[in-house]
Amino acid sequence: MNDAGFSAGRVLRGPVVSFLNDPGEGDSPEPGSLLHLQDGAIWLVDGRIQAIGDYAEVAPRLPAGIEMVDYAGKLMMPGFIDSHVHYVQLDIMASYGRQLLDWLNEYTFPEECRFAERAHAENVAEAFLDEQLRVGTTTAQVFCTSHPVSVDTFFAAARRRGLRMLAGKVLMDRHAPAALTDSGERDSERLIGDWHGKDRLGYTLTPRFAPTSTPAQLDTVGGILRTAPDLHLQTHLSENKGEIDWVAELFPDCRDYLGVYERYGLVGPRSTFAHGIHLDQPMRNRLAAAGANIAFCPTSNLFLGSGLFDRLACRDAGLNTTLASDVGGGTDLSGLATLKAAYQVGQLLGQPLTAWQGFYRLTLGNARALHLDTHIGSLRQGKEADIVVLDPAATPLLARRSARTRNLAEQLFALMMLGDDRSVYATWANGECVHQRDAASTP
Ligand code: GUN
Ligand code: ZN
Repeated sequence: MNDAGFSAGRVLRGPVVSFLNDPGEGDSPEPGSLLHLQDGAIWLVDGRIQAIGDYAEVAPRLPAGIEMVDYAGKLMMPGFIDSHVHYVQLDIMASYGRQLLDWLNEYTFPEECRFAERAHAENVAEAFLDEQLRVGTTTAQVFCTSHPVSVDTFFAAARRRGLRMLAGKVLMDRHAPAALTDSGERDSERLIGDWHGKDRLGYTLTPRFAPTSTPAQLDTVGGILRTAPDLHLQTHLSENKGEIDWVAELFPDCRDYLGVYERYGLVGPRSTFAHGIHLDQPMRNRLAAAGANIAFCPTSNLFLGSGLFDRLACRDAGLNTTLASDVGGGTDLSGLATLKAAYQVGQLLGQPLTAWQGFYRLTLGNARALHLDTHIGSLRQGKEADIVVLDPAATPLLARRSARTRNLAEQLFALMMLGDDRSVYATWANGECVHQRDAASTP
């Protein structure tokens, strides 16, 4: 900051990869879909990208003496986006041996009861955000619990760190412990008023899934959405066969599971439906026509034994697929780990995921499907400065593999299959460095 209050900002110099458009499913990205700079410069001012380009082209425009951060040998990308995650399940990740409904009753609901206590919610919210930044995720769409304090503490923690986050209070008014059920309407309205649109925060209406809401509660949610269409909505859909049978029993008048959400006006362009494994093509077409997105949560689908998500059937229907961790059903917060599992699920269906498509989904694809792409998802002038810096030589093994790669496609693929939290060298959010892998740890 100089005397006139003008901030010159700082420059990150090094290789850059950012998508400008969907690269398609081919071995090479569609023409014009990729920005790749071997020696790039990203000039950050006041939380935004002031300029980006080849270093040689940007350098003459930079103020004299500007701070320069050297990321030679690293790879800068837009911060990763997680379209569906439960921060409150951080401490029950990897709870052994159940499918969805038993897992909810045995581990998840008891854990969520603990979030009535502010101190617990604060502790987990901070730990969750630390972990997200450590794996290069700068934006997520987050389930809290039904306790308003779980939402207040999460948003407050994200705001202090300058993060762009979507979150909401879980709505349940049946088939869950009494400590977790309420009508939720008044609380949701208060929370929306307090947090929606504050700094980089947005509110997502969060009915857990059809079995834990009465028709009256779903109707109330639909009513809120009609009056405030800029809100997001998140829930679960067609994850598990037992769940689907239960929904059919509870809502016999609806044509199918998706029909429940349609009946109450919950299926729109800002709606994210987690899982969507057991859908038929007409259901995918209906979701696509509404502009909704399905969150593909591969580590969760494998862990809970839910099934194999048919990504290309969604693509054929024109249905947006987002990528998500779904922690704590998911076993890893890392976007790289999510890509690895997505690739493996794809292989079992004969539809391998290219690195182009994978990294596109993790960044601009997720941003577009969540209507956040005017702010984040790509490294372009005027966008918010959320950046992950990957290290292709993070471990001895990765260094050996990276040395053998012949082009960017191979390098990105090696990162998605062999990378993990150690591959995230640094994370920037809102123009500030919020994680540095090699920072000296306090004794
Ligand atoms: N369906 C309803 N609640 C949940 C949850 O917390 N996790 C998963 N994976 N599925 C759900
Ligand atoms: Zn979930």
